[in-house]
Formats: sequence, structure tokens, C-alpha cells
Amino acid sequence: ALISMRQLLDHAAEHGYGVPAFNVNNLEQMRAIMEAADKTDSPVIVQASAGARKYAGAPFLRHLILAAIEEFPHIPVCMHQDHGTSPAICQRSIQLGFSSVMMDGSLGEDGKTPTDYAYNVDVTRRTVEMAHACGVSVEGELGCLGSLETGQAGEEDGVGAEGTLDLEQMLTDPEEAADFVKQTKVDALAIAIGTSHGAYKFTKPPTGDILAIDRIKAIHARIPNTHLVMHGSSSVPQEWLAIINEYGGDIKETYGVPVEEIVEGIKYGVRKVNIDTDLRLASTGAMRRHMALHPSEFDPRKFFAETVKAMRDVCIARYEAFGTAGHA
Ligand code: G3H
Ligand code: 13P
Ligand code: NA
Ligand code: ZN
Repeated sequence: ALISMRQLLDHAAEHGYGVPAFNVNNLEQMRAIMEAADKTDSPVIVQASAGARKYAGAPFLRHLILAAIEEFPHIPVCMHQDHGTSPAICQRSIQLGFSSVMMDGSLGEDGKTPTDYAYNVDVTRRTVEMAHACGVSVEGELGCLGSLETGQAGEEDGVGAEGTLDLEQMLTDPEEAADFVKQTKVDALAIAIGTSHGAYKFTKPPTGDILAIDRIKAIHARIPNTHLVMHGSSSVPQEWLAIINEYGGDIKETYGVPVEEIVEGIKYGVRKVNIDTDLRLASTGAMRRHMALHPSEFDPRKFFAETVKAMRDVCIARYEAFGTAGHA
């Protein structure tokens, strides 16, 4: 059944668990997520980015998610729009039937330029007014994702701010967060704590100075009733990097957000954990390996089925680690 993000995250807060929000672009990802949720009895958040809408087309994406709900009627599914860059884009998703939208006013309509606080409050508040009138939840974002190691926003992947950021922009301020939630009435707040989108988050396994879990604790202490969202939360599994590189790939040394650090965040108000890259890496590794080992194979269903298995196992591991399992 389709549910709003607010309903799901309220339940998660009450029971002290977190929910992975997986990005979806195609049938194989959707199937992997649902099979994992079915196996672990977990509620689901699937999210569509602007890139996903461009790749699959909004109607295909919409029906992909609706098909999942039809096939797995016993699983609650939140259909979320990831990183909306204007109230108008969020409105379009609401019309399409999304039960939740992200208005990311931390960046301008180009999705690249950091904005000022007043702009962010204005676009987010307007989106909340419109969405709540339709029973749809809203996620806002305060602070810009970026690497505390390099000061770079991670524009390499084309997702997020462009260029160099200062430290203050890359760590959400607890006082400002309290004011933002009060003024906008968002249902969930994405915070910046040193993570960035894509595979290249950290050049070494992250320590507290570059992955600011303490900042989550400070924000949660100030706004204990607000559901917090972690973006850029892929763990970048080293075993999948090794498989990709063993079978012809070329991914440089890189590290993600350790699952145990996310679990620590979940103890302090993190309820939604955004994951895209981990499923991309598992999918690419599984496909490269299968093609290398079966060079005469030409039925794409054979290697796509391998990607579903690989992604499903990542989803199962996250549902179990975040405590989502058993709460469908
Ligand atoms: O927001 C970041 C997600 O990983 C979506 O990426 O825009 O390439 O679909 P995308
Ligand atoms: P990753 O690139 O770490 O998977 O983050 C995805 C994300 O935050 C989508 O909004
Ligand atoms: Na989002
Ligand atoms: Zn994100």
C-alpha cells in the first residue's frame, strides 16, 4: 500500500529504527528492493531523482512503483521525489501521485549553486503548504553536502553543489535547524555532516573529523522530534569495488559511510538513509563478472538477473542493520 513518509517515519521514531531510501531508475532496482523488503518484512521508501525521470521518463517510473505496490500489497511503500529544485517541480510530482517530495532549497534551481537561508525557508515553506494540503510529506535540506577532507562538494558526479564550500556550509547548525523546522514545518530534515553523493566520499576510512556523527547528536538534542535524513549514505562496499576491478573495471581507491556509523546516527534521530551508489556498484560488479565468466551469453535477462540478486543482498543487509526488518 502507498503511505506517506510522515506516517512511516513517525512509526520508525516510535520504534527506534531507520529506513533506507533507495533510488530507483529501472525494473531491476525496483524488483531487488521489493524482494528484499518482502524477505525481511520491511517497509519501503523508493525515490526518483531528476536523473531517473530523465532516464526512464516520469510515467514509466510512476508505473514501476505502482506495479511494485500491486505485486507486494502487504508492504507499505513511500513514493518519494528526491532533490526537487523548485516548488513547481514538487507540485508536478504531487500531481503524478508521489506520497512525499524533497524540496532541496539548499541549492538553487540549477541544483548546483548554494542559496541563502531566506531563500531556502521561502521555497520550502511554500512547498510544505501545497504538499500538506494534498496529504503529501516534505523533506527539506539545510546545509550543503560536501567533503570535509577536501572542501569539495563532489560535483564530479554532477549531483550537488559545484566547486568549493566552506566548513560552515558543510555542517548543519543546530540552532538554524531548529528555526528552519519551526518556520517551514517540514516532516523531515536532511542535514550536512560531511557526506557527499557518489562513490568518492572519503580517501580513507572516515574518522570523526571528516564524518561528523557528533553533529547529528547535537542537532537531535536541539530538535528531538524532527526526523533527520542522511544523504550520501552509501557504504561503498570494498568487496564490490574489488569485483568490478577484477573484471575489467577501473574504480579508484575510495571509502563510503560505514554501516555502523549510520546505525549510530539512527540512535540519534536519523530515520531516512539515502542510498543509490551501493546498488549501482553491486549492479555493475555483478554484470561485469557475469559477462566475463559467460562470454558467449547474449540474453540480457541472464546478467540483469545477476544484478537483481546482487542489489537484493545489499538491500537485505541494510534493512537488517538499520532495524527496518520486521516493521512492514
Ligand atoms: O541525488 C543523488 C542520487 O544519487 C541521484 O543521482 O541524479 O544520477 O539519478 P542521479
Ligand atoms: P549515495 O550516492 O551515497 O548513494 O547517496 C544517494 C543520495 O543521497 C540520494 O539522494
Ligand atoms: Na530525498
Ligand atoms: Zn541526496
